[in-house]
Amino acid sequence: MDLGLTNKTALVLGSSRGLGLSVASVLAAEGAQVVLCGRNEERTRAAAESIVAAGGRAVAVTVDLADAGAAAQLGAAMERLGLTVDILVLNSGGPPPGSVLGVEPGTWTAQFGAMVQRLIEIAGVFVPGMRARGWGRVLTIASSGVVQPIPNLGISNTLRAALVGWSKTLAAEVASDGVTVNTIVPGRIHTERVDELDAAAAKRTGKTAEEIAAQSRATIPVGRYGKVEELAAVAAFLAGEPAAYVTGSVVRVDGGMIRSV
Ligand SMILES: NC(=O)c1ccc[n+]([C@@H]2O[C@H](COP(=O)([O-])OP(=O)(O)OC[C@H]3O[C@@H](n4cnc5c(N)ncnc54)[C@H](OP(=O)(O)O)[C@@H]3O)[C@@H](O)[C@H]2O)c1
Repeated sequence: MDLGLTNKTALVLGSSRGLGLSVASVLAAEGAQVVLCGRNEERTRAAAESIVAAGGRAVAVTVDLADAGAAAQLGAAMERLGLTVDILVLNSGGPPPGSVLGVEPGTWTAQFGAMVQRLIEIAGVFVPGMRARGWGRVLTIASSGVVQPIPNLGISNTLRAALVGWSKTLAAEVASDGVTVNTIVPGRIHTERVDELDAAAAKRTGKTAEEIAAQSRATIPVGRYGKVEELAAVAAFLAGEPAAYVTGSVVRVDGGMIRSV
C-alpha cells in the first residue's frame, strides 16, 4: 500500500528514542522528511543520523517540552529549516510512577505543562498551516491508561485523559479541512521506559525485573510486550493518505491488554 508520504514532512516529538524514534524511522522509510526532537542534543542527533544512514531524510531539533517557550522554539526551528509540518506526532516523556494520592501540587502543574499543555500549544502553531493547505495529520501518543487506568501510574492516567478529550474536540473542528486527528494508545510496548518502569516496580516490591515483566506479560492476551515497529506501523498508516477517513479515533496497540470493548 502506498501511504503517499513521499512529499510530506513529519515533526515527531519525543523521538530521540523509544516509540517516537520508531515512528519517525518508519515515516522516513515511507519517504517522509522527518524532524526529530528531544532534550538530549547528542542522542537526538544520533537518532537523526541513524535514519539518514538508513537512507531517510531526517534532522534533529533540541527542545524541552517542560520549557514554556517550546512551541515558539519549534515554530522558529521549522522556519529556519524551511519546512512546513504536514504530520505532527505529539509524544512526550512519561511521568514518574506512583499513586494518585499525595502528588505534590507543583508536580501536577509541571507534568501538565510538559505532557499536555505543550503538546496543545505545539498543535496550535502547526495545525493552522495544515488547514490552510487542506491536508494534515495529528497523532497523539497517549496510553492504555486513558481507557483502563494502570495501577501506580496515577499522573499518566489522569493527565493523558485530557489529551483524549482535546484530540476528539480538535478532530471535529478541522475535519472539513482535510486534517485528521487521532490518538494512539500503546499497551506495553518494549522500550527503555518500560524497562525502567519494570525496574522501579521490582525495587518497590522486592521482586526481580524479570518477575515483574512476566507478571505484566501474563495480563496481555498476545502474551508478550509489543515491538516498537508494531506501534509505528499503525502510526504510519494513520499518518498516510489511505487513512483520510479515520479521525477522532482512539486506536489501541495493546496486544488485547485493554479488556473493555
Ligand atoms: N512504551 C510503552 O509501552 C508506553 C505505554 C503507554 C504510554 N507510553 C508513553 O508514550 C511515551 C513514549 O514512550 P517511550 O516508551 O518511547 O518513552 P521513552 O523511551 O522514555 O522516550 C521518551 C522520549 O521523549 C523524550 N522526552 C522526554 N522528556 C522530554 C521533554 N521534557 N522534552 C522533550 N522531549 C522529552 C525523550 O528524549 P530526551 O530524553 O532526549 O528528551 C525520548 O525521546 C511516554 O510518554 C510513555 O509514558 C509508553
